[in-house]
Amino acid sequence: MSDEDAPDGTRRQKFHDLLRSLPVWDTELPHFDPASAPADPLPLFQQWLIDAAGAGTPEPHTMTLATADATGRPSVRTLMLHDADEHGWHFATHRTSRKGRELAARPEAALGFYWPTVGRQVRIQGTVTAAGAAESRADLARRSTGALAAALVGRQSEVLASYEELERASDAAWERARREPDAPVGSWTLYVLEAQEVEFFQGDARRRHVRLNYRRRPPAEGGWTTELLWP
Ligand SMILES: Cc1cc2nc3c(=O)[nH]c(=O)nc-3n(C[C@H](O)[C@H](O)[C@H](O)COP(=O)(O)O)c2cc1C
Repeated sequence: MSDEDAPDGTRRQKFHDLLRSLPVWDTELPHFDPASAPADPLPLFQQWLIDAAGAGTPEPHTMTLATADATGRPSVRTLMLHDADEHGWHFATHRTSRKGRELAARPEAALGFYWPTVGRQVRIQGTVTAAGAAESRADLARRSTGALAAALVGRQSEVLASYEELERASDAAWERARREPDAPVGSWTLYVLEAQEVEFFQGDARRRHVRLNYRRRPPAEGGWTTELLWP
């Protein structure tokens, strides 16, 4: 009997047993000394992403993006990080998508990264600005044919009548992306999140997790304050 055919009670039990048996923080984790952390969160974020990639974390440049609609109802999804520099954390999507519409109504968002091979989490909260058409196009031009084809398909977050419709649209988009590598995608938009807060979490086998939170000082003062948080 496959798991799908199992009676509800059996499947629920197996599910609970599995959840309880899955380990977390049971490998050798790096030590993080917050006293040695830089004054600015950006170089620490860059170093942690480099460490995560070096430790073999799959797709360490993927992150969760949380937005909220005009009434405050939240939603999350996974996105690729395109860059992190002095302007902020860069990502791209269709401005006509659900998240694009939510960001237009309420330009605030949060990002979450989790790198299990090093037991590290980073979360970032801040204000989001949409880049102009030229910058958004340049961002897409730097990416692969597949990324361009995916963007050309468009209609992200709209209801899809049938999978066949997507197959047809995708075939046409791939064809166009190969033929026309500079094909414009009007809705494709690069966004930059300027952080107000950045929190670094280093997991620990004995659950003495280190949490270091950076908060941006008012513009007149500049720089960041840091504080430790109880785990
Ligand atoms: C690993 C991974 C990376 C993704 N990267 C992106 C991305 O960079 N941009 C994007 O628009 N969607 C990306 N997606 C799809 C989004 O998670 C989401 O399904 C889509 O953007 C629609 O979200 P929305 O309906 O909330 O607007 C990615 C999904 C996964 C699983």
